Amino acid sequence: MQWLPGHRLKNRPYEIVRELGQGGFGVTYKAKNLSLDVPIVIKTPNSRLQKDINYSKYVENFKKEARRLAKLGMNPHPHIVRVFDFFQEDNLPCIVMDFVPGESLYNLVQMQGALSETQALQYIRQIGSALVVCHQAGIIHRDVHPNNILIHAKNGNAVLIDFGIAGNTQTSRNTHSGNRAFAPWEQMAYWEQQSSKTPQVDIYTLAAGFYYLVTGEVPTECLGRKYNNDELIEPQELCPSLSEGINKAILKGMEIYPENRPGSIQEWLKLLVIPQAEPEKPKQKPQPKPPQTYVPESYQPRSVTYPVSSTPPRTERYTQVTENSNSGVTRRNWLKYSGLAISTVVVTSIGKSIWDNVSQPTGEIDSPEESDSISSINSKSESTSPETANTNLSEDEFDVITVNDRGEEIDREKGRAKYFTEDLGNDITLDMVEIPSGTFLMGTEEEEIERLVKKYNSYGFRNESPQHQVTVPSFYMAKYPVTQEQWKAVAQLPQIERELELDPSRFKGDNLPVERVSWNDAVEFGERLSKHTGKEYRLPSEAEWEYACRAGTTTPFHFGETITTDLANYRGIYTYANEPKGKYRERTTPVGSFPPNAFGLYDMHGLVWELCADTWHENYQGAPNDGSARVSGSGITFVVRGGSWSYNPLYCRSAIRLGTARDNRGIGIGFRVVCVAPRAT
Ligand SMILES: Nc1ncnc2c1ncn2[C@@H]1O[C@H](COP(=O)(O)OP(=O)(O)O)[C@@H](O)[C@H]1O
Ligand SMILES: [Mg+2]
Repeated sequence: MQWLPGHRLKNRPYEIVRELGQGGFGVTYKAKNLSLDVPIVIKTPNSRLQKDINYSKYVENFKKEARRLAKLGMNPHPHIVRVFDFFQEDNLPCIVMDFVPGESLYNLVQMQGALSETQALQYIRQIGSALVVCHQAGIIHRDVHPNNILIHAKNGNAVLIDFGIAGNTQTSRNTHSGNRAFAPWEQMAYWEQQSSKTPQVDIYTLAAGFYYLVTGEVPTECLGRKYNNDELIEPQELCPSLSEGINKAILKGMEIYPENRPGSIQEWLKLLVIPQAEPEKPKQKPQPKPPQTYVPESYQPRSVTYPVSSTPPRTERYTQVTENSNSGVTRRNWLKYSGLAISTVVVTSIGKSIWDNVSQPTGEIDSPEESDSISSINSKSESTSPETANTNLSEDEFDVITVNDRGEEIDREKGRAKYFTEDLGNDITLDMVEIPSGTFLMGTEEEEIERLVKKYNSYGFRNESPQHQVTVPSFYMAKYPVTQEQWKAVAQLPQIERELELDPSRFKGDNLPVERVSWNDAVEFGERLSKHTGKEYRLPSEAEWEYACRAGTTTPFHFGETITTDLANYRGIYTYANEPKGKYRERTTPVGSFPPNAFGLYDMHGLVWELCADTWHENYQGAPNDGSARVSGSGITFVVRGGSWSYNPLYCRSAIRLGTARDNRGIGIGFRVVCVAPRAT
């Protein structure tokens, strides 16, 4: 028996509007209460259940639990759907509840991607409070799947629906595939079903839902974890910024054995605390600048030969800057001017080669030479450094692609980059691209940040603020994220501080980026490489990273207003602007699979989060403007940039920044190194 739209019930003044869903147990209809003219929801057993040999028993259970729910409804809980009527129609028991306008949490994540930790926590706490009340009333929900949590369109509350009122049946809800990933094994093993009516079942499912909200990934099925030893990837591995406490709480709630999960939902909720952000130190008198590198003194190179470029890398993209200079705008004036009109001008002046930095302090734009025009700065950079002996730089030529907000190519220019190649032995090499010095605007404009905050209901974007001008000295940056073969080569070099695993990555392949490496590991990599080569290799500062990623652009991506999955590896089922949906590859791809930016750097957007040298700070208040890393505070959390294969494009923008614990090894976390000239003494 199926009721069609427009069908009027005999025993109540209700008219069917449409079917909302058919689950393992019931059919759910949206209906209209004709006397009150309000929408309601009616749920009845479905035809499959009616054929079940235990049908009459289920009807009894159904009634019993409907009564209990109705009792709860007398003192309505803001996060439990209110049940207010129960009747028989066509010999079917019918339960009636309020209609909740809005999307399910499951759909929300499908549409938007993972939620911010704070947003997810808010919803999980709300549903947790609902479960406390249910458990006290003797009701175990048994399917707190994110599909059964609706976000009220008007007040933003999370509301729990779809109580497991019919008990377990042979056509059990939890055997349909969508729900298995969220259910504990004991609920699916039929011999355990009788004993599965415990709060620990709800704890597991809610914790698994939390996992999904913060990672955007459906967790590994519990049944497979128990019987097949399938691995559950820690949520922090997929979401580097997840705080340690929440990571642990999710795993505790998802313990395989119910006795290892918390004893009650209240106990689990107590674990859900996000540590307060490290308080910014009060303003102190100027301190000596923190060391710009983590290369220990003893490994500082003394006398080394660096490859040198005879001309700084330049691409067509910078002709705008040069044109400015042609029109007689001095660099100093240009900077002043750009500071006044930051949103309309490409605030990038680029041109000095790395060797200028050795002999000239940076950032002193008032020094007499600096009042030269841009073009003369460019030509000045052609002067050779003290270490010009070695000139074995190679040159790359490539296309630099720009797309519009629909992801359509609107420009393609020739770009050129100079790079040197480090020999790591066994034919394994590391290409280091010359990045010219320059000035750029770091972060995101206030107006754009507030647009994102509103659109995505997350304050996280505010840590891209305040947008500020930074002058970055030249440096060399790895063309690609560190690959697994490069990692292996360096991990075999003599240990400096800590051991390195030779093959840590989850997705295996010589030319795939290394992942599952922590900040500590990346630092060790830099130190070993520095010692081996006699040059200074380290993680980039986040200023260097963003400067290098933007390569002169001011758009959200170096590709322009958006990206597509032909341009980068990210969770392409989500879009950023008006581009079509693309592929979600669900894994890493070989480095260099996509077009580079104007500096000749590949895979800056997506693929793997790239670790930076900076400790995490909530925003750019007090950030240095000379391109150096900000290393202050307790040094527990460090910055990652650029997004990854599993993140939606919003999180792959040039300006995005997240923090990750220094020892977190994630399948989405890798890095690339930079090489700098020794500081002038
Ligand atoms: N009270 C409600 N308000 C709005 N939509 C609802 C409500 N109850 C259920 N729905 C919608 O109907 C779908 C199916 O209902 P549900 O009770 O979850 O049954 P099942 O999952 O067993 O099919 C839900 O996923 C939801 O989209
Ligand atoms: Mg449901």
